[in-house]
Amino acid sequence: MNKTIEVRYTEYNDISELTSADAALLEKARATTANAYAPYSGFLVGAAASLFNGEIVTGTNQENASFPAGICAERVLLSAASSIFPNEGIHTMAISYHNTKGHSDKPVSPCGICRQSLLEFEGRTGKPMRILLSGMSGKVLEINSAKALLPFSFTAEDMK
Ligand code: THU
Repeated sequence: MNKTIEVRYTEYNDISELTSADAALLEKARATTANAYAPYSGFLVGAAASLFNGEIVTGTNQENASFPAGICAERVLLSAASSIFPNEGIHTMAISYHNTKGHSDKPVSPCGICRQSLLEFEGRTGKPMRILLSGMSGKVLEINSAKALLPFSFTAEDMK
């Protein structure tokens, strides 16, 4: 039997089409790319999340001369959020990036490891996490749940 998995998302032409709360969060993600420590890749990523308690938490990628010790912006944000506000769900996470040339005009998606971490965060807080993806300008993608980014995912349930 052939089966299909469908991923639904919304595409906006640019930030001006977002609600003011989403636009502010995306602006925060774009601005926070300035705090990335990415001397090796030159790829600066910024993430900003609004939590269900109203707080905003940010994260940036933090690299290391021992390359595998580096950590992506999304997982820095999840660790910070979970450490400061344990068990608080993320309502929306906005993610932006640019390279050393400083410009980017298309959305990029979180890497596979981050998708796994986003999924577990969403599962354990029991709240769907909206995700906004955009470069420093241009189109914005809105995805309503981290689950949508990782079909055929592996979770703790699978180990029972
Ligand atoms: N990076 C992120 O921070 N998030 C992603 O989802 C993709 C990749 C970082 C890791 C590394 O510091 C640099 O971007 C290049 O891969």
